[in-house]
Amino acid sequence: MRTQVAIIGAGPAGLLLGQLLHKHGIDNVILERQTAEHVLGRVRAGVIEQVTVDLLDEAGVGARLHADGLVHDGVQICVDGVRHRLSFKELTGKTVMVYGQTEITKDLMDGRAAVGAPTIYSAHDVALHDFFGQKPRVTYRAGGKSHEIACDFIAGCDGFHGISRKSVPASAITAHERVYPLGWLGILSDTPPVSEELIYVHHPLGFALCSMRTPTRSRYYIQCSLAEDIESWVDERFWEEIRPRLDDEARERLVTGPSIEKSIAPLRSFVAEPMRFGRLFLAGDAAHIVPPTGAKGLNLAASDVRYLSQALVEHYAEKSAAGLDHYSERALARVWKAERFSWWMTMLLHRISENPFDQKLQLAELDYLFRSKAAATAFAENYVGLPY
Ligand code: FAD
Ligand code: PHB
Repeated sequence: MRTQVAIIGAGPAGLLLGQLLHKHGIDNVILERQTAEHVLGRVRAGVIEQVTVDLLDEAGVGARLHADGLVHDGVQICVDGVRHRLSFKELTGKTVMVYGQTEITKDLMDGRAAVGAPTIYSAHDVALHDFFGQKPRVTYRAGGKSHEIACDFIAGCDGFHGISRKSVPASAITAHERVYPLGWLGILSDTPPVSEELIYVHHPLGFALCSMRTPTRSRYYIQCSLAEDIESWVDERFWEEIRPRLDDEARERLVTGPSIEKSIAPLRSFVAEPMRFGRLFLAGDAAHIVPPTGAKGLNLAASDVRYLSQALVEHYAEKSAAGLDHYSERALARVWKAERFSWWMTMLLHRISENPFDQKLQLAELDYLFRSKAAATAFAENYVGLPY
């Protein structure tokens, strides 16, 4: 088989890239290790920046998002039982959209099926070859047979644990990493959210987040230790842990119920530099990870895809290498700003240090955020997404 761009991974990055390339007449094949059902079963992101919404519109998959997505004008931060509101609308004129990653993935999969572009699910032993030369290839196994795809470029969109980044010789790549000593235990439940807006909670018992998917479906997270065993978290235990971290009003409004999904995500900051290796380009979590506190991971995957799709379109339509040559630098400039913001929000809101000095600094910084218009504006600008 031959294609122009072989895309590894059918997460949001790979599917969005495939859709944008197809729109510009660029052939592409997606290879995904899992089944489509497995990919759709992963509950992850919930907050989408306006620039990501715009890109999904450009890809022609925004209809359901506009019909069902919830526009949020602001966010709330609860510090030791007292809630504060930060209005994105007033501070920046912008808003964010709350719409689940699983829904975005479904919209992208449906869009891809509608145009008949190929995705090979359950592709095993994917291997990348010769990307430093002129004729890259990808090999894989599916249906008990070995296959090979010859291509012009490979897009590594296969997430943090994927094969693309690992295929690059160690001498060609630099990894920057910070692992936090905690994770997020998240549950999804068909209960109404405690508030119309997200509530990020700072509390001596630890961080919590009250989020949502729809007016009848809530998503809650609490900070947990990395050693935690998910099996030991029966639903009742989760509700008992989150309840005391909330303010009185939220506690009163909290409706508990059975969870329909429960998972633990470790918190990590990671950046691999550069993001281009000959004819291989990394995009999304394959190249960088942020802790989920700033809601930036999927949005960064989308911004990488924006730069990469434009660069590939320029390459094929205008025979210009400029976009491809600048891809890594442009993407990384945005990545590092999101890394900084996600690290800052993580350090501000979690119980990480038992040193009272560090805890007092957190409270002083939160107080400054609520009192200073400049600090609140900086927060809001980063949360809603910086302009390209
Ligand atoms: P992935 O979604 O990881 O997709 C990679 C795909 O590649 C997967 O389908 C995988 O199966 C496939 N793959 C892996 N290895 C191979 C292989 N060898 N061969 C073939 N295929 C392979 N981000 C936000 O912007 N906002 C939020 O509110 C937010 N909240 C989050 C909450 C949680 C709890 C978590 C865990 C994450 C959150 N994120 C959020 C981050 C977001 O989910 C990720 O950044 C996003 O999924 C990255 O998309 P991706 O396509 O780059 O990678
Ligand atoms: C979510 O709804 O899953 C969510 C929201 C905000 C975050 C992270 C996750 O910062």
